[in-house]
Amino acid sequence: MRHKLVIGNWKMNGNRAANTALLSGIVAGLNDFGADCAVCVPAPYLAQCQAELAGTPVAWGAQDVSIHAGGAYTGEVSAAMLQDFGATYVLCGHSERRGYHHESNALVAQKAVVALAAGLTPVVCVGESLAEREAGRTDEVICAQLQAVLDAIAPEAVANIVLAYEPVWAIGTGKTATPQMAQEAHRSLRACLANKHAGAAVAVKILYGGSMKPENAKELMAQPDIDGGLIGGAALKSSDFLGIIQAV
Ligand code: G3P
Repeated sequence: MRHKLVIGNWKMNGNRAANTALLSGIVAGLNDFGADCAVCVPAPYLAQCQAELAGTPVAWGAQDVSIHAGGAYTGEVSAAMLQDFGATYVLCGHSERRGYHHESNALVAQKAVVALAAGLTPVVCVGESLAEREAGRTDEVICAQLQAVLDAIAPEAVANIVLAYEPVWAIGTGKTATPQMAQEAHRSLRACLANKHAGAAVAVKILYGGSMKPENAKELMAQPDIDGGLIGGAALKSSDFLGIIQAV
C-alpha cells in the first residue's frame, strides 16, 4: 500500500502574517497521522516556508517551474531557484496554468523533465473538462496528458513523479467527483504508468484534487488507487487541511 500524501496548493493566496498562522497551525496539529504532507506556495513565500517549516514534517514546493535554466525569461522561476529555497515538490501542468497560460502537454512534459533533473519531485496534474467527460473522452484526455510526460522521461524516472488527477469541473466548484468516478480515472492512469514501467506504476502516488474536504476525504482515499489529495480551498485553513490529513 502506498503511503498517502496530502499537498496543499495555495494558488495565488496568502500574506506573510497569514502564512505564519496557517503554517504554525498545520505543524502544531500534526500528530503521527498516516500521511505525508506539503504545501505548494506562491514563489515569494518559499523563503518563509524554508524558514518556518525546516525541521518539521511539512515539506514545501512551488506551483510552476520554467523550462529554462536561467537568462532572459522575465518573470519565470528556474528549477535551480526552487532548489535554492529547499523545495521538494513542484506542480506541473495545473489546469489553471494549462488554461490561462495555454500550457501544452509537450510543455508540461518539459517542465517535469526539468524538475526531475534538478532533483525536485514533479506533481504532474491531469484532468478533463466537463465537456470532455460528457463526451466520454476522460480516459483519452488524461492518458494523453500523462503519456506526454512518460514519453519524455526514462522508465526508471517514472517512480520519481507524483500524479494528480484533477477533473477541471470539480476544481473550486464544490462538485467533487464520486469516489467511483475518481477511482476509475486513477485506475486508467495507473494502467498508463504500467505500460511504461510496471514496477514504477505500483510505486507512483496518484493524488485526487477537486473539492476534496474533510467531509469527503475518507471515502475518496479509501479507494485503492487514490493515494492522497491535492487540496485548494481547504488548504487555506489549518483545521480543514488537518481534517483531510486525519481522514487518511
Ligand atoms: O490543485 C488543487 C486544486 O486545483 C483543487 O482546488 O479548491 O477544488 O480543492 P479545490
